[in-house]
Amino acid sequence: MAEAVSSVAWWEEAVFYQIYPRSFSDSSGSGVGDLRGITAHLDDLVWLGVDALWISPFFKSPMRDFGYDVSDYCEVDPLFGTLADFDRLIENAHALGLRVIIDWVPAHTSSDHAWFLDARSSRDSARRDWYVWRDPGPNGEVPNNWASAFSDGGPAWTLDQHTGQFYLHSFLSEQPDLNWANPDLRAAMHDTLRFWLDRGVDGFRADVVHNIGKDAALASVPAKLEKIPHCALNDADVTHDFLRDIRELLGSYADQRMMVGEVFLLDVERMATYHGRGDELHLAFNFPAIFLPWDAAAWRNCIDTTYGVLERHRAWPTWVVSNHDFSRQRTRFGGGEDRARAAAVLLLGLRGTPFMYMGEELGLEDADVPEEARVDPGGRDGCRAPIPWEVESPHGWQKEPWLPFSPKPAERSWQAQRSDPDSVLHFYRRLLVHRRQSPALWSGSFEWLPTDEHLLAWRRGTDSDERVVIISFADEQRTIDLDGDYQVAVSTKLPDEGQVFRGEISPTNAIVLQPV
Ligand code: NOJ
Repeated sequence: MAEAVSSVAWWEEAVFYQIYPRSFSDSSGSGVGDLRGITAHLDDLVWLGVDALWISPFFKSPMRDFGYDVSDYCEVDPLFGTLADFDRLIENAHALGLRVIIDWVPAHTSSDHAWFLDARSSRDSARRDWYVWRDPGPNGEVPNNWASAFSDGGPAWTLDQHTGQFYLHSFLSEQPDLNWANPDLRAAMHDTLRFWLDRGVDGFRADVVHNIGKDAALASVPAKLEKIPHCALNDADVTHDFLRDIRELLGSYADQRMMVGEVFLLDVERMATYHGRGDELHLAFNFPAIFLPWDAAAWRNCIDTTYGVLERHRAWPTWVVSNHDFSRQRTRFGGGEDRARAAAVLLLGLRGTPFMYMGEELGLEDADVPEEARVDPGGRDGCRAPIPWEVESPHGWQKEPWLPFSPKPAERSWQAQRSDPDSVLHFYRRLLVHRRQSPALWSGSFEWLPTDEHLLAWRRGTDSDERVVIISFADEQRTIDLDGDYQVAVSTKLPDEGQVFRGEISPTNAIVLQPV
C-alpha cells in the first residue's frame, strides 16, 4: 500500500485544468480564443472547482504548430492579446485562488525566431551553435537516421542551402531544435523562465522536455526504430543536468514554483528518472494512461505499474486522459456519456495530480473536421474543437470559430448544462467539490479492494479521512462486499447520491463512498 504523504505541496493536491487558448473563448471577434477570453471565464472555472490552470502557448508565433513554434518567448502573440492582458489574467486568477502555469517550449523555436535567423545567416554567427548543425555526408547524406514528427518517418534534418549544413528538427522543419549543450543558449532560456516567473506564474508545463539534451555523438538509432519520431526515443543523460539547473532556478523563487514535464517516452520507468532525486521535474505526465481503452485489466495494470515505479523513485504520480494532442476521453473510450462520467471518477479518484483537458467537464467528443477545414500538420484538429459556451449558435463565439464545434454544441454548452443539475458539468462540479473536501482523495494512501474482473475498487485514506472509489466496466449490475458501512458521496447516477451503499453497482456506474 502506498503511504500517505504528510505535508502536501500545492501541485500535489491541485486539480489542473488545461486551456488550449485558441479554442477556449474569443473576446476580440477574431474567431480565435484569446487571453481576455480566458479572464472572462475565470469565475466559471472557480465555480467548477479546479485549482490550477495550465495555459497552452500564447507566445508570438507563425502558428505552423499553433504556438508550439515560438518566435519570441517573451511576447504575447497579437492574436491572443498583450502582456498587459496576461498580467490582468494572472492578477484575477490569483485573486480568485487559482494558480496558473504556462507552457514553456524549450526544445525548439520557430524558424522565424531571431535566434535562428541569426544562426542560419552564416556559419560564423555568434548564435550558430544555439542550434544543431552538421555537415552532409560525402554524397550529401543526412547526418543520422532520426525521424521527425508529423512526417511519416521523414528525416529530422533539413539542409540549409545558404550555409550548406543540415539543421536538426525533431518536429516540423520550421521548428529547429535548440542546442542545450551551448551555455549561452542555456542562459538565454533561463532568462525566459525568469521573465514569466517575475510576472507571477506559478510554474510551467515543459514541452517535450526530455528532448532538450542530445546524445553528443548524434548516433543513429537501430534500423527497426528509424521510422519512430526521434522525440519519442530521445533520452540523453545530459538532460538531467539541465533539469537540475532549472529546478534550482525555480527554487530560488518564493511560493513553490513548479514544473510538470512532457516526458513523452511511453515508458514509466524512463519517465520516472526525470524526477531525479527530487531535484529535477516536480511532476511528469504519465502518458501510457492517455492511450488506454475502457478496460478494467488495462487500467489495473497501468495503475500498478505507475505506483510501483514512482514509489521507487519517490515521485508523485499524475493522471491525464485527454489533451490537445490526442482523442478526447469520451471519443477514445466510446460508450457515451456514462463512460465519460465514469472516466472522470477514475481521473479524479486516483492518487496523484489529475490534469483535466478543457471540455471534459462538458462531456465533449472530438469534432468531425471535414477535409477542407483541417489545419493541423499532426492531424489533431478534432480534439481541439472550440468550447461551446452558449446554447444559441455560434455558442458564445462572436463568429464561427477557427475550427468546427464537436457534436451537439447547443445541448452540451456550458449554458445548457449549468441549468441542468443532472448534467455532466454539474457532475464534475460535485466530484471536484467533494474531492477538495476530502484529504483522503487529494493526499491519501491507495489500496486495491478485492473485486471481480469487471470492477476496479480502491480505498484512499489518511489518519482521519477515508473514501472508497468503485468503477464498473460491466454492462450489467455487479456486487461488491465491503467491510464497514458507507454512503454514496458522489455517483455518476445522481439519484444514488446520499443513499446508503448496499453493495450493488449498476452498469458503467462509478461512485465515491464515504464511511457512515
Ligand atoms: C508537444 C505538444 O503538446 C504538441 O502539441 C506539439 O506539437 C509538440 N510538442 C511540439 O512542440
